[in-house]
Amino acid sequence: MQRPIGVFDSGVGGLNVLKCCTALLPQESFIYLADEANMPYGNKPKEEIARAAFMCADTLFSLNCKAVVIACNTATVTAVDSIRALYSTRVVVGLEPAVKPCVKELGKNGYAVALVTDATFSSDRFSRLLASCDKKVVPLAAPELAKLIEDNQDDITRIRHYVSEVFKKYSDAESVILGCSHYSYVTGLINEIYGGNIKIYDGAEGAARRLKYCLELSGQTAKKGECTPSIKFLSTYKK
Ligand code: DGL
Repeated sequence: MQRPIGVFDSGVGGLNVLKCCTALLPQESFIYLADEANMPYGNKPKEEIARAAFMCADTLFSLNCKAVVIACNTATVTAVDSIRALYSTRVVVGLEPAVKPCVKELGKNGYAVALVTDATFSSDRFSRLLASCDKKVVPLAAPELAKLIEDNQDDITRIRHYVSEVFKKYSDAESVILGCSHYSYVTGLINEIYGGNIKIYDGAEGAARRLKYCLELSGQTAKKGECTPSIKFLSTYKK
């Protein structure tokens, strides 16, 4: 039987990452795990985030997944190294804010805003990523945004005011980097706030490309016609 690929996030944010993965690897089967019981990750101490991320990775590997995609920036900055150390023979792909592609295209006098959760904002991994930039990237934490998105996915326009307040001081930014997988849901709102005059960078496609590369490298790519591709959705819940 074809072994699936596990993808997890604290909630619906990682669905965009899943979409990119299925588009790039249409012959594969996937299991998506939404850790709703622990959502939001971004406001928790790092020990709690790491524990939750471990549980998700462990659940997916126990379900015979050949690879796990951490479709969450917060879980990646907090726990990707330890998850990789624990599952050293498995493919583990993390989600990173698309700082490098953004900086490459940034104008000489322009600057980018990297919007992240609180936990990502204060992480060493994110600081190192920003320190490696030769152009201006302003980190910006939006502590409530992921939860607001999770609760308003059916009508995202309800949070237009919150999103416009977040960007109020940065009306002259050239680009926005989405540093949390949930934020892909507000791409349209951000565009609207900037009157269409903004470049938005999302790390989801980069993670999907990395997954494809790792599967190819380890000879684990599913062969066409080997099995019928499927997607299974799982969720944790609060007792
Ligand atoms: N979607 C997660 C991320 O990419 C975090 C959302 C949360 O705070 O749970 O950072």
